[in-house]
Amino acid sequence: MMVINTQYRQGMRRLLIGVLAMTATPQIHAASAEEILKNDCAGCHNLIGPAPTTLQALWNRKGPDLFYAGNKYQARWLEKWLQTPTRIRPAGMFYANHVKPGAKGDEIDTASLADHPALAMNDAKAITAALMKLTTRSELIRPGEYKPGTVSLATGEMLFDKFRGCLSCHEIEPGYGGMSGPEVYTAAARLQPDYLISYMRNPQAWDPKVFMPNKHLSDVDLQKLVHYLRAIDEENGK
Ligand code: HEC
Ligand code: HEC
Repeated sequence: MMVINTQYRQGMRRLLIGVLAMTATPQIHAASAEEILKNDCAGCHNLIGPAPTTLQALWNRKGPDLFYAGNKYQARWLEKWLQTPTRIRPAGMFYANHVKPGAKGDEIDTASLADHPALAMNDAKAITAALMKLTTRSELIRPGEYKPGTVSLATGEMLFDKFRGCLSCHEIEPGYGGMSGPEVYTAAARLQPDYLISYMRNPQAWDPKVFMPNKHLSDVDLQKLVHYLRAIDEENGK
């Protein structure tokens, strides 16, 4: 009897909340995606371009540039991440601003890193659609350049770590790898494969002052690196 009673009361409460939500909705002014971007995002993100051309501007950048978002992100990832953002750059936008000396060398001062604002589902959908329309720099992308294939985790890691020295700046699993660049174990879900190739081929073409070195990777290595990023993304999702 107790159980039925509780279930009944919970049911009634849900129903009530539902009715209240329905009657409350029309009174809320729904901001358009453009308004949200302008009011809540533009203070930290460059939506118009161009990318910083001086080191000073790079250091002052508060968030990643979004003016070529439509050439960069996977829409599915974007919509989800905007609702439940997770940290991508373990040490924030600029490593040196967020490290403090620790017993075992530099440590991340997590207190200096703010959580990213989260959007409600409908806003995330609208913002994703608006961001995917920002397609400047398309001339740097060769559509369909990436040809899906596979590489073993061991071979991929050898390339990423030993041969090309990428691990010193990028984490390939949570807590393993360098912290001055974005983690790359979700890069394949986050970024379009043709963008990945284009960016790794010449990071400065996208972001003139970025401190990722141009390693003059061969076309074969570029393909293998994307295979590898896909493999670690899959491994991370398990
Ligand atoms: C207070 C500054 C700030 C505001 C306001 C802000 N962001 Fe961000 N945003 C950041 C920072 C810093 C990062 C990098 C987070 C990380 O690497 O973990 C980021 C990351 C992102 C990313 C991932 C980009 C990438 O390439 O890694 C997207 C997409 C994004 N923000 C969209 C938005 C949108 C849309 C809004 C407005 C609703 C917004 N942000 C508001 C600071 C901000
Ligand atoms: C000296 C440090 C450094 C090294 C070495 C380095 N990177 Fe980067 N990498 C960066 C930085 C910094 C960024 C971009 C930062 C940003 O967008 O905030 C970046 C961006 C990236 C991105 C895009 C990630 C994103 O979310 O936008 C990929 C993919 C990438 N690097 C792969 C590589 C590969 C592959 C190598 C080795 C050939 C490599 N990196 C070597 C620092 C480095």
